Amino acid sequence: MARIIDGKALAAETTGKVAHHARDLSEKGIVPGLAVVLVGEDPASQVYVGAKSKRAKECGFHSVQHDLAADTPENELLELIARLNADPAIHGILVQLPLPEQIDPDRVIQAIAPKKDVDGFHYMNVGMVATGSAGRAFVPCTPAGAMLMIERELGSDLSGKNAVVIGRSNIVGKPMASLLLAANATVTIAHSRTGDLPTLARSADILVAAVGRPEMVRGDWIKPGATVIDVGINRIDAPERGEGKTRLVGDVAYAEAERVAGAITPVPGGVGPMTIAMLMANTLASACRAAG
Ligand code: GUN
Repeated sequence: MARIIDGKALAAETTGKVAHHARDLSEKGIVPGLAVVLVGEDPASQVYVGAKSKRAKECGFHSVQHDLAADTPENELLELIARLNADPAIHGILVQLPLPEQIDPDRVIQAIAPKKDVDGFHYMNVGMVATGSAGRAFVPCTPAGAMLMIERELGSDLSGKNAVVIGRSNIVGKPMASLLLAANATVTIAHSRTGDLPTLARSADILVAAVGRPEMVRGDWIKPGATVIDVGINRIDAPERGEGKTRLVGDVAYAEAERVAGAITPVPGGVGPMTIAMLMANTLASACRAAG
């Protein structure tokens, strides 16, 4: 059976270190500040945003949450971002996606000062990650967390390893591929138009699934001994638990995969907790840079 890569434990370890450094920095008069912005009332987004604000407080940060109405005009959001950009108490700004349709997400993201873009979505940070300068950039939190899990399992040099990333999103798939490439892996990005995905997936020593399709990756897609990172968080019906009940599953059919893989991240309790931990790490790094 595969080793379970415990995201909850690694996230707790990471946030513990962040909180420790934040205390040191606070004693020098700089309290890391994170502003989280939510527009509208999407229930999943409310949960994510609440968790981010709460974790920031637990790390000893100055944590502010801006909840805006669903019909907020784009210029109002841009004005808020301009104020946060200029606020020396704020080191990180996160605008939760998706945004309501009257707002252009790209215009909003590009309005965030790159040095406060702790999500790593601004072109400046995207470009640095893509050109192999991730050390100077903010790396998007989900791939950063996934990468930390891979490093813990396999070390930081992935020379000779084949990595297959299923999913080509800007938030996960593309930056994930850049990070794996920078660590010397041989990387393939697969997506919905890829031919014979099972055969390609079976070539992977490191398989990252980030497609948002419940249990799409089957046990026989996995190379024996591979490291499997499941980024998916999908809520599905669970009638076996009772009328109207649901449960969370990943993009990987876990019960099948754990019989084949060498190591695997569970859902929940895998990559999810790491995402928030890396947001805390990015905010702390931003405060450290501001401190000089
Ligand atoms: N929505 C889903 N994932 C993310 C994320 O990592 N950051 C933001 N801002 N919104 C998201």
